[in-house]
Amino acid sequence: MSGPRVLLVGGTGLLGRELAGCLPGLGAELLAPSHQELDITGAGAREAILALRPEAVVNAAAYTAVDQAESDREAAFALNATAPGLLAQCAAELGVPLVHVSTDYVLGMPTGSPHVEDEEPHAVGVYAESKLEGERLVAASGCQYLIVRTAWVFGRYGKCFPKSILRAARSRPVLRVVSDQVGCPTPARALAQGIGAMLARAIPDRGACGIYHFAGRDAMSWADFAELITRQAKGFGLLRTVPRVERISSQEFAAAAPRPADSRLSCLKAERDFGLSMPHATDFLRETLEAAGE
Ligand SMILES: NC(=O)c1ccc[n+]([C@@H]2O[C@H](COP(=O)([O-])OP(=O)(O)OC[C@H]3O[C@@H](n4cnc5c(N)ncnc54)[C@H](OP(=O)(O)O)[C@@H]3O)[C@@H](O)[C@H]2O)c1
Repeated sequence: MSGPRVLLVGGTGLLGRELAGCLPGLGAELLAPSHQELDITGAGAREAILALRPEAVVNAAAYTAVDQAESDREAAFALNATAPGLLAQCAAELGVPLVHVSTDYVLGMPTGSPHVEDEEPHAVGVYAESKLEGERLVAASGCQYLIVRTAWVFGRYGKCFPKSILRAARSRPVLRVVSDQVGCPTPARALAQGIGAMLARAIPDRGACGIYHFAGRDAMSWADFAELITRQAKGFGLLRTVPRVERISSQEFAAAAPRPADSRLSCLKAERDFGLSMPHATDFLRETLEAAGE
């Protein structure tokens, strides 16, 4: 007998590929149309989703080019706000749960401690604003939703910070890395497993609903993370010499879009309600760095 039919959107992304790998193992019958097969910003999206008759929906699709979003507001809002709103309306119509992935960027105001779910959001920048609007539309839809906020995601598939650092470390003796932003690096594979466990509970338990944080257990700055990555890469035999990390400010780095200074997420709610345990980044660095290639 097959399990619940789960529609996964964004199944080819950094997180999506890990979800596509782990959801069938949890008993789901996976429907994972590609972007080309199902464009969630396209005209026929609603009819296509309803026709699939999923028993749960997971949205890992997003406009994630944070800096590019500053000059591409319409496209960022179409994918990060309007489309999740549509997915949520479909979920409400079908009477099925929606897991929607969101971000620390909606919590751009530092509080001096890890951000909690019921904090007043504060979005700075187009990407952050579009993701916050997506959360609002999902929550207002009347569907059973789980908004899973995460941060600093890395993993085997696609681009991520550890792979970029490894590549740079192979050719440069000094790496200039931002040290005034702190966060908790989150392994995509562990996040996918956490989402799977939440979904497994949400499908039979209609009471499971709300915003949840899921992030790595260990907080650090980008510069600390770069040092950890290069040390470990050397230990794994992936790097000959460890470069020096020069600590710079966000202002010196001068990215087009602002970044939260404190991205630490408190994950106690997910631990309490779903019995989850947050992962250590170090347990997932080897598989990530080995996937970076030469
Ligand atoms: N990466 C991070 O550090 C991070 C941190 C915090 C939160 N998040 C959140 O985590 C989630 C997953 O992020 P990610 O890094 O895995 O994203 P990603 O690697 O950029 O993947 C995005 C996915 O969305 C798909 N997609 C794009 N436009 C689409 C459309 N119109 N219709 C259907 N699918 C479309 C892409 O397919 P194509 O490639 O074929 O276009 C791809 O599969 C997002 O909600 C993001 O905001 C990520």
